[in-house]
Amino acid sequence: MKRVSFAEFGGPDVLHLEDAEEPHAGPGQIRVAVRAAGVNPVDWRIREGQFQKVRPVELPAGVGQDAAGVVDEVGAGVDGVKAGDRVFGRGASTYAEFAVLAAWAPMPEDLTYEEAAGYPSVVETALRIIGQAGVRSGQTLLVSGASGGVGSAVLQIARDRGITVIGTAGAANQDYLRELGALATTYGQGWVDRVRGLGPVDAALDLAGSGVIRELVELTGDPRRVVSIADRGAPAHGVHFSGVTGNVPQALAKAADLISRGRLHIPVEKSYPLAEAAAAHVDSQAGHTRGRRVITV
Ligand SMILES: NC(=O)c1ccc[n+]([C@@H]2O[C@H](COP(=O)([O-])OP(=O)(O)OC[C@H]3O[C@@H](n4cnc5c(N)ncnc54)[C@H](OP(=O)(O)O)[C@@H]3O)[C@@H](O)[C@H]2O)c1
Repeated sequence: MKRVSFAEFGGPDVLHLEDAEEPHAGPGQIRVAVRAAGVNPVDWRIREGQFQKVRPVELPAGVGQDAAGVVDEVGAGVDGVKAGDRVFGRGASTYAEFAVLAAWAPMPEDLTYEEAAGYPSVVETALRIIGQAGVRSGQTLLVSGASGGVGSAVLQIARDRGITVIGTAGAANQDYLRELGALATTYGQGWVDRVRGLGPVDAALDLAGSGVIRELVELTGDPRRVVSIADRGAPAHGVHFSGVTGNVPQALAKAADLISRGRLHIPVEKSYPLAEAAAAHVDSQAGHTRGRRVITV
């Protein structure tokens, strides 16, 4: 089969489309014929070697953790899914013709494979950090970096829970944030005052890692109400850095429920064929994705 892999850590040009042995579903796993794979910043962080201390990979390595596709192998001990089912989920080396998934759920009807591949990791992350920030219905959540994959999920899940959201994004994404139900303002010079002008803030999420932890603590008045997924310096301010993946099967079930109720829709900004995975990484690394980018197989 074809898969995208890299044999050394480095820039996007270390990615190659290679012929590889097909993987097989072990106990508790399924294998899918991948139709689309989600592109997450973690994919290029791993490719650069940023995760070698916390989550080492052996080279050559495959790329990608999110996928949507058609089940074609079911591992021992797995019930409730059969060959031919359409699923979305999380596994390993998903930029490939076949991939093994460790967590999955039936794809909501009416969703394309491209759309479905965009949900697994960002919905898990969004559910995890909204919970960790301890924000409830009737309260206001500030989201720094609200227009990307995780932000798009956070905004809509918060809206579904009756939480008011103030989001920051670039000038081109202000209307996008409003469409997702948030109050919007731009980041950059004077942003703290602009947020204050929109109202008091009970909790805050740093999704952009743009060096704003001190300001987020100031705006909430309590470091325990701030969570970062992108700034490793957050703990120096008493702020939780959230980096441990939560319950993925539960997140997929929740995503399917929200999508089928029309409460969650994350647009795909651009799709790339498997052979253009490097271009997808270049674009993701530019740091201004609206919604999601996906690889199609
Ligand atoms: N720790 C974890 O468990 C975990 C899980 C998932 C993701 N992450 C990390 O979280 C980050 C976000 O992930 P993602 O998938 O949402 O990324 P993404 O889809 O690439 O989105 C990045 C967003 O950041 C915004 N942005 C860029 N510069 C900004 C600034 N100075 N201030 C505020 N916003 C800014 C961009 O908005 P504009 O285009 O409007 O400028 C863009 O929409 C990545 O660094 C990723 O590695 C961590």
